[in-house]
This record gives sequence, C-alpha cells and structure tokens, in this order.
Amino acid sequence: MQNNLTSQRISTTSRVRGEQKNQRPVVIWLTGLSGSGKSSLADALEQRLVSKGCHTYLLDGDNVRMGLCKDLGFGDRDREENIRRVAEVANLFVDAGLIVITSFISPFHRDRALARSVIGDESFIEVYVDTPLSECERRDPKGLYSKARQGLIKNFTGIDSPYEAPDSPQITIDTLTHSVDDGVDAVMAYLEQWNAK
Ligand code: ADX
Repeated sequence: MQNNLTSQRISTTSRVRGEQKNQRPVVIWLTGLSGSGKSSLADALEQRLVSKGCHTYLLDGDNVRMGLCKDLGFGDRDREENIRRVAEVANLFVDAGLIVITSFISPFHRDRALARSVIGDESFIEVYVDTPLSECERRDPKGLYSKARQGLIKNFTGIDSPYEAPDSPQITIDTLTHSVDDGVDAVMAYLEQWNAK
C-alpha cells in the first residue's frame, strides 16, 4: 500500500514552529485506570500551561472516541488502533510546535512503547496516574465499574481486561496522597528541568 510513497521534506520543522511559540514541543502522555484522575489532571495541567503563555492541545480518551475513533471498541485490537491513531495525531501536533497532553487508559506496554517510538523518545514524557483499582471503583465517577461488575460492559479495564502499569514512567502521581494541584506541580517541575536540558 505504501510502496509508491516518498517522504516529502518540509523546511519548517517542529523546532522552528516551537521556537515561534517560544516553547519546546512535547507530548505529556498520561496513563492510568478509568477513574484514576487522568482527565482532571490533564485539564488542570493544560490550564496551568496556558496561563503561562504556552500553546497546547489536550487529547482526551472519551472525546477522541466520540470523533476520530468512533469506529473503535474496547477489545485489545481496537485499543491498539486507538492508541496508534492518538500517537500519530500527537506526533503531528508536536510537529506543529505544540505542547500536547494525552489522557488515555493506554493499558498495554506494547502500545505505549509504540507511541513513544512514533513521537520520539526525546519528545515523550510518560506520566503514570497511579490510583489503585479499589479507589477507582470507589470513586466510579461515570458509574461504569458498577455496570462492568454487573456484566453490562465487557472488556472493562481492571475488571475483565488487563491494565499493565508502566515499569519506568518519568513521573508517577499517587492520587491517594496528592491533590490535582500537586500533580500539576510535579509535571511542571519535571518540564522545567526537561526544558533546561
Ligand atoms: S484505551 O484503553 O483505548 O486507552 P480510552 O482512554 O480511549 O481507552 O477510553 C477509556 C474511556 O472509555 C473510559 O474512561 C470510560 O469512560 C470509557 N469506557 C467505555 N467502555 C470501557 C471499557 N470497556 N474499558 C475501559 N473504559 C471504557
């Protein structure tokens, strides 16, 4: 299918577009169970970045699944395709010079590794939103754990579909002991060091 394609060289690079915005483009990849607090952290983080004059974009699981990925379900193959598309879109936004936040369960090592390789190690910061299943289930903000326990939703992450916690994320946020604001502080502190590299 790709045999007759040639990579087109484009003079204006990610770096140039980032410099124009006075920032270093990056993907901040949040992973964690449903109900772990990814979306709240992502939203607060984007607000903080915007308040500092950064140019951002937030890709959030539920929203993306209502548009770009509305043809996909929650079997392993569909999750793989979901994350592949998100990685490609995030990569385009990095190319556009943006600071991108992604908020997806992204339960499989393999798929997160693929995202890292598509985007490039130097532009990928993995953040593990570490909330135990028992706590996510207690919070159950969308009532989905209850439905999954009743057998009304199949392949629910943590119930009858696995979640593979990252082995060496750049940042881990324990939401049992830290507020959303603490989580934002932790990511901002990491970004400051990363920007200085
Ligand atoms: S991922 O596994 O492919 O990364 P994604 O982050 O896009 O998942 O979507 C997860 C969101 O979809 C959850 O926060 C929840 O609101 C909803 N959802 C619906 N069905 C499921 C399911 N079977 N497992 C997990 N989340 C589900």
